Amino acid sequence: MKTLVIYYSRSGNTRFVAEKITQELSADLKEIIDKKNRQGFWGYFWAGHDTIVKAKTEIEEINLNPENYDIIFLGCPTWVASVPPAIRTFLDKTNLEKKRLVLFCTQDSMGAEKTLNIMRLLARGAEIIDQKFFSAVEKNKVSVEAQIKEWIGKLLAEPRN
Ligand SMILES: Cc1cc2nc3c(=O)[nH]c(=O)nc-3n(C[C@H](O)[C@H](O)[C@H](O)COP(=O)(O)O)c2cc1C
Repeated sequence: MKTLVIYYSRSGNTRFVAEKITQELSADLKEIIDKKNRQGFWGYFWAGHDTIVKAKTEIEEINLNPENYDIIFLGCPTWVASVPPAIRTFLDKTNLEKKRLVLFCTQDSMGAEKTLNIMRLLARGAEIIDQKFFSAVEKNKVSVEAQIKEWIGKLLAEPRN
């Protein structure tokens, strides 16, 4: 079974989770890169603003053919209880119809369920087989790694047709 983990991360938390999932599954790993600078005070400010107004952004070209994969894990941080513009753009540009998708996101403390719900809505036509969020990743790396191992173990144990 060929698996892809694809993620957007501004400050490394979602990357940490994506890399651990990738290790557990011997998957391929790809990063969605926003061409807009999201660092620093103004980067943070506009990140929040662009998220609230549901803006899209320019992302770097990703060499991805979803047909090459049986399951795709898609992850991002929670931004203002919603999805970052890079994910909005990625899901707009990428045809995931009938693909098996697993969604994950990271948050500091609240809003991740809403983020996952919005990801679901934007991934129209995909078959969402599971979703999970991780909180305060930077402070809890050992616990988050254990949560990922347990989660992936359960997913692998589930019968699939
Ligand atoms: C613009 C912006 C908005 C955010 N909004 C939320 C939020 O609504 N709730 C929350 O718990 N964390 C929020 N965060 C924190 C991130 O979701 C959290 O730190 C996440 O793990 C960062 O992932 P990353 O390191 O992969 O970018 C926000 C961060 C940014 C930059």
